[in-house]
Amino acid sequence: MTGKFDPKAIFSTPIVAKSGELDSRLKRVVGVDDLITNLTEDLNFIFQPNLASKWSDAIYKKQIPLVQILEDFIPLIIFEGDVGTGKTEVAETIGSSVAFKHKYEVQTLKMSTQVRGSGFVGEMTTLLSQAFDHVKSMAQKAGVPTLLIIDEADSLLTSRAASGQHHEDKAGVNTIIQHLDSMKKSKLPIAVIAISNRSGALDPALKRRSTAIFTFERPTETQRKELFKRFLDGMDFNDKDFSALAKASSEKKIAGKGELSRFSYADLTLRFLLPELRHAVGANKKITIESLANRLNNLDPSPSLFE
Ligand SMILES: Nc1ncnc2c1ncn2[C@@H]1O[C@H](COP(=O)(O)OP(=O)(O)OP(=O)(O)O)[C@@H](O)[C@H]1O
Ligand SMILES: [Mg+2]
Repeated sequence: MTGKFDPKAIFSTPIVAKSGELDSRLKRVVGVDDLITNLTEDLNFIFQPNLASKWSDAIYKKQIPLVQILEDFIPLIIFEGDVGTGKTEVAETIGSSVAFKHKYEVQTLKMSTQVRGSGFVGEMTTLLSQAFDHVKSMAQKAGVPTLLIIDEADSLLTSRAASGQHHEDKAGVNTIIQHLDSMKKSKLPIAVIAISNRSGALDPALKRRSTAIFTFERPTETQRKELFKRFLDGMDFNDKDFSALAKASSEKKIAGKGELSRFSYADLTLRFLLPELRHAVGANKKITIESLANRLNNLDPSPSLFE
């Protein structure tokens, strides 16, 4: 295969968030309200490229030089953080937060790592160019602001300094910078979120030119309590139980590691609450605080990739 372009292999089905509608998945994400608020505003700023110059005209009755600062950035937002901290979940649902808050439709597209191709020289650059052209045409066709998600971007946009880095990867970073630049110049309302779970893996040139970097972390005790309150609502638990669970799920030593590790959101939802649910359904019984505490006791945090 020599870079034949098949959008279906490279993009998942587009999701369109209707104006004023909030995806119910976003309501399940807890403890990151500030991050979601800031991200929503950053995306709105990208999706409405004339916002700053209109503001300048209205307030100062002219174009002030400060507005030019926007020319130095590309419409790229970076998500960094450990495994299971909500990066993918937030990226996939944030379009609906913008649609809800700012009352316009937002289209979300997700690019897969298939865009790397099979390793022929020049193949990835060609595929990436075709993929970006596809995103532009999808944005034009839909006529609405479009968010492109590049998940697991470290496999695509690794740091040039990383060992084993070959020419093709540098070309990938440069191609993306060029395309984002051209999107911005074309005034097409397209934003890109690139996601990485390895610290320092993303190319510094890309990070330097990005609009914003958001770091996702494993939940603190307060955030864990919020999570338990949200997921164990409507059962027989009270505030004291939630506090006890949040305390009982604090950091632990894991095998082979000297220091303490915190549980990730995914540990608490998928490896703790989900098996508990499965167990209770199987036994046809209520979930008790004792069985939750017992399960927590036997669970270790997942190892971190982000240190
Ligand atoms: N803030 C949160 N509140 C509630 N649940 C969360 C939160 N963050 C993550 N989760 C849950 O944890 C699971 C994993 O989240 P997600 O896939 O977004 O992690 P990730 O950061 O993309 O991890 P990876 O780097 O491994 O891809 C999902 O089931 C998600 O619902
Ligand atoms: Mg993910």
